[in-house]
Amino acid sequence: MQSRVLFVCCLVLIVFIAGTIVAQEDRIFIESKAFEDRQRPGVEFNHLLHYEIIDCMDCHHDYVNGENVWDMFSGKNYCSDCHTVSGDDETGLGLMQAFHEQCIGCHQEFHRRGQPTGYIMCGECHVRR
Ligand code: HEC
Ligand code: HEC
Ligand code: HEC
Ligand code: HEC
Repeated sequence: MQSRVLFVCCLVLIVFIAGTIVAQEDRIFIESKAFEDRQRPGVEFNHLLHYEIIDCMDCHHDYVNGENVWDMFSGKNYCSDCHTVSGDDETGLGLMQAFHEQCIGCHQEFHRRGQPTGYIMCGECHVRR
């Protein structure tokens, strides 16, 4: 009896843990606290749509000796974990520049290839609500 209860508990725990790993939020709202006097509203980002077509490591990185060793349990999932607003840090790239270079850079690349792509104009991403 005891072991059976334990077994069921373990099962529930495993399902729960697996669930939290799989259940990345589909849509996230990007609004970094680091921007204290923000000029634009935050940006809605469909995470799921992106990682269905793009590898995690093409967006997330954690460079050690030039190699990208990022994993989602590293606690470095937010761009502001490394990129400061001024960019006066080891990344050399300010937080806004980091977002823009990655998001807009890729959208433009897909546009050049004539493939379906995401927004490029300011007001399309920064939507006033
Ligand atoms: C592909 C989407 C995208 C486009 C297009 C885009 N941005 Fe952004 N921008 C972002 C994201 C994402 C952030 C980070 C937002 C955050 O963390 O709050 C950001 C941050 C910013 C910030 C810093 C935060 C603030 O409000 O002070 C400014 C300013 C900004 N963008 C202005 C612009 C302007 C001006 C344009 C057009 C030239 C533009 N953006 C185009 C996605 C975009
Ligand atoms: C197109 C770029 C892109 C791809 C691909 C991508 N991510 Fe993200 N991810 C982001 C951005 C941008 C954020 C928000 C960062 C911020 O707010 O500073 C984020 C946030 C996160 C977060 C923290 C927020 C949350 O929802 O828990 C986790 C964890 C994460 N990503 C894991 C992953 C994993 C795992 C994959 C691959 C299956 C992946 N990401 C693919 C860009 C991407
Ligand atoms: C663990 C720290 C860390 C995190 C988290 C991080 N970056 Fe970076 N990022 C760096 C470093 C360091 C560089 C400089 C790499 C170099 O000079 O070779 C960099 C460079 C970049 C570059 C220049 C091109 C490249 O890949 O080298 C872009 C664009 C960028 N980051 C965007 C982002 C975005 C967007 C996020 C959030 C999804 C993010 N970064 C999260 C540390 C980080
Ligand atoms: C490596 C390439 C890549 C990166 C990086 C990237 N995108 Fe996209 N994005 C795409 C592609 C491709 C599509 C079109 C997908 C489709 O329609 O099939 C898209 C579509 C979108 C759309 C419209 C679809 C929707 O409803 O969400 C938005 C908004 C968007 N991206 C925002 C962002 C933001 C914000 C970032 C940065 C945080 C970002 N993207 C980073 C490739 C990228």
